[in-house]
Amino acid sequence: MCGIVGCVSEINATRVLLRGLERLEYRGYDSAGVAVIDGNGDLALRRRVGKLIHLMDAVDREPIQGNVGIGHTRWATHGGVTEPNAHPHLSYDGNIALIHNGIIENYEVLKRDLVGRGRTFHSETDTETLVHRIAEHRESCDSLYEAVRRTLAEVEGAYGIVVIDRREPDTIVCAREQSPLVVGVKEGEAYLASDVPALLDYTRDVIFLEDGDIAVLRPGEISITDHDGNAIERSITRIKWDLSQAEKGGYRHFMLKETHEQPRVLGEIMLGRIDAAAGRVNLVEGGEPVLPEDVASRVDRVVLIACGTSWHAALVGAFWFESFAGLPVQVDYASEFRYRTFHVDERTLVVPVSQSGETADTLAAVKEARRRGAPCVAIVNAVGSSMTREVDGVLYTRAGPEIGVASTKAFTTQLAGLYLLAHALGTMRGTLGGDAARARLEELAGVHDLVARALEQESAIESLAATVQSREDFLYLGRGLNYPVALEGALKLKEISYIHAEGYPAGEMKHGPIALIDDGFPVVCVATPGAVYDKVFNNLEEVRARKGRVIAVGAEGDDRIAGLADDVMWVPGAAEAVAPIVNVVPLQLLAYHVALIRGCDIDQPRNLAKSVTVE
Ligand code: AGP
Repeated sequence: MCGIVGCVSEINATRVLLRGLERLEYRGYDSAGVAVIDGNGDLALRRRVGKLIHLMDAVDREPIQGNVGIGHTRWATHGGVTEPNAHPHLSYDGNIALIHNGIIENYEVLKRDLVGRGRTFHSETDTETLVHRIAEHRESCDSLYEAVRRTLAEVEGAYGIVVIDRREPDTIVCAREQSPLVVGVKEGEAYLASDVPALLDYTRDVIFLEDGDIAVLRPGEISITDHDGNAIERSITRIKWDLSQAEKGGYRHFMLKETHEQPRVLGEIMLGRIDAAAGRVNLVEGGEPVLPEDVASRVDRVVLIACGTSWHAALVGAFWFESFAGLPVQVDYASEFRYRTFHVDERTLVVPVSQSGETADTLAAVKEARRRGAPCVAIVNAVGSSMTREVDGVLYTRAGPEIGVASTKAFTTQLAGLYLLAHALGTMRGTLGGDAARARLEELAGVHDLVARALEQESAIESLAATVQSREDFLYLGRGLNYPVALEGALKLKEISYIHAEGYPAGEMKHGPIALIDDGFPVVCVATPGAVYDKVFNNLEEVRARKGRVIAVGAEGDDRIAGLADDVMWVPGAAEAVAPIVNVVPLQLLAYHVALIRGCDIDQPRNLAKSVTVE
C-alpha cells in the first residue's frame, strides 16, 4: 500500500510533505511525488522514480513555495514503475492534482468514456480516470468538494483520495473507502496522511476517517460529510504512540500488524476480479489478460514452483487446479526443480509463486521453464520485481509491502490469487461452470469476513501460547487442503520462536512421527470439517492414546473436536475449498504469541532474510 501526505500549512508545504513521506519510507515504495499550489496560484508538480532522495534533489534544483500541497510514495499496482505513473496526477485542464491509494474497479469503463470525450491519458494508472472526471464535473459546479462528491458517485472500488484545485488555493478535499486516511488537527493548519507516522512531527490530535467520509481541510478548519452531503461529526483522538509504534499502526510488531491486515488485503485482491453472478473471474493486468484463452485451452498440465511459505501456498493451490481445471498438477520447490531433469513444454502452464518476485531459485526455475517454451503466469506481490519481467502474465496479490520476515498476509493473498487463477483456468477450459462456478466464487468472496472473525480469537490464543511456550518440539498435522496449512503453521513457529516444529500429513503420523509422542507432547492439528475430517479425528485419537496434548484448529460449534482436544483454537466455519485461508490465522497468532513470550526478535528472526536473492 502506498503512502499519502497532505497539508494546509503555515510553513512551506514542500518541506512538510517530504518530511511526512520520509516517515512512511519504512513501508517500501518505488516512486514518489508532490504537488503544491505555489505563490502564483499554479500547480507545481515534481515526481521521481526510485528513492525519495531523487525527489528531494528535484525539489532542491527547482524549489516550490506554497502552503497547500499533497505528496505520495507509490507502490505500483496498476501500471509499471515510471514517472508518468507516479502520483500526483494532473487533470486535462491543469487545474486539479490528485493522489489515490486503492483500486478503481470500473476504471476501464470510466476511461473509455473519458477517451470518447477526447481526454488524453498520460499514465497507465486507474487513478488518472478520477482526476479527469473530477475536472469535468468541476466545470459545471462551483466547488472542488462538489466535483469530488459527484465523481465518487460514479466510482466502484477502494480508495483513499486527496485532491487540490488551484482555483481553491487554501483547500484539500479527501475521501475514504477501504483505504485508510487520517486527518491531523492543528490551530490555523490542517494535515492528512494515510498513516499516523507522517503526522507526528506536526500534531498528535487526529481524526480517523471512516468509509464513506468526504473531508474538506482548510486552515484550522475540518468539515466531514457523507456522500449525500450530510455533515458528520468524528471525534479527535490524541495519539500517544512513539514513532516506531506508529509505524506499526499501534501494533508491537509488523508481523502482528500484517496479520491483522489480512481481511482488508483479501478484500483488495478480489476487487474488480470477481463476477460472482456470472461465476467468472476477470484477470486483466495493464489491459492484457493474465491468462490468455489460447494458453488455457492448450495446456494439459500445471507445474507450481516456489520456496518457503510460497511453496506451502502452491501446495494448497494444487488442489484447486486439480478440482477446478481438471488437470494434473505438480508442485515443486524451485531449488529442487531447477536441478532435476524436469519436463515442461508449451503444453505445461508453469505458475511461479513469490511474494518478493526476487527469490533467486524461483527466478532461475522460471527462466529455464520459459527457455523450454512453457507459458508462465506468476503470482507475485511486488510490482515491477524481476519475476514480473520474466513471465508471460502476472496476477498481483495486492498485499502491500510486507515488512515482517515471517510471511502472513503474503501467504493468504497468494492463496486467494491461486484460487482465482485456478478458477479462471477451469471456466476457460469448461471444467468449471454454472452453479458450481458461482458457488466457488461466493465462498471466496466471503472469506475476508471469516478471517476477521478468526482474528477475534487472539486473546484466547495468547493465553494458550503461555501454556506451551516452554516446549521445545511440536508436531503439526493436517490432511488434504489442511496439510499445507499445518506445514505453514510449523514454519511460522520455528522461524520466529526457534522452537523445533515439524509439519506432517496426519495420515503419515503412524509411519514414523508417532514415536515422538509421549506425555504432554504438543500436537497442533488443523481439524475443520471436510472430506477427511473423520480420518483426522482418528489420527488425533491415536495422539490422545499416547497422552499427547492435542491442540486443534476447530470450526465453531464442533462439539466432537471440543470433546477430544485438550485445547481448541476456534475459527468460523468456512466452505472446505476456502478453509485454508481462514485456518492458518490461529497458527500465525500462536507462533507470534509464543515468540513474544520467549522474547524473540519477531520481525527480524536470526539468520533469515526477507528476500533470498542468492542461491
Ligand atoms: C516465510 O515466512 C518466509 N518469508 C519465506 O519462507 C519465504 O516465503 C520464501 O523465502 C519465499 O519468498 P518469496 O515468496 O518472496 O519468493
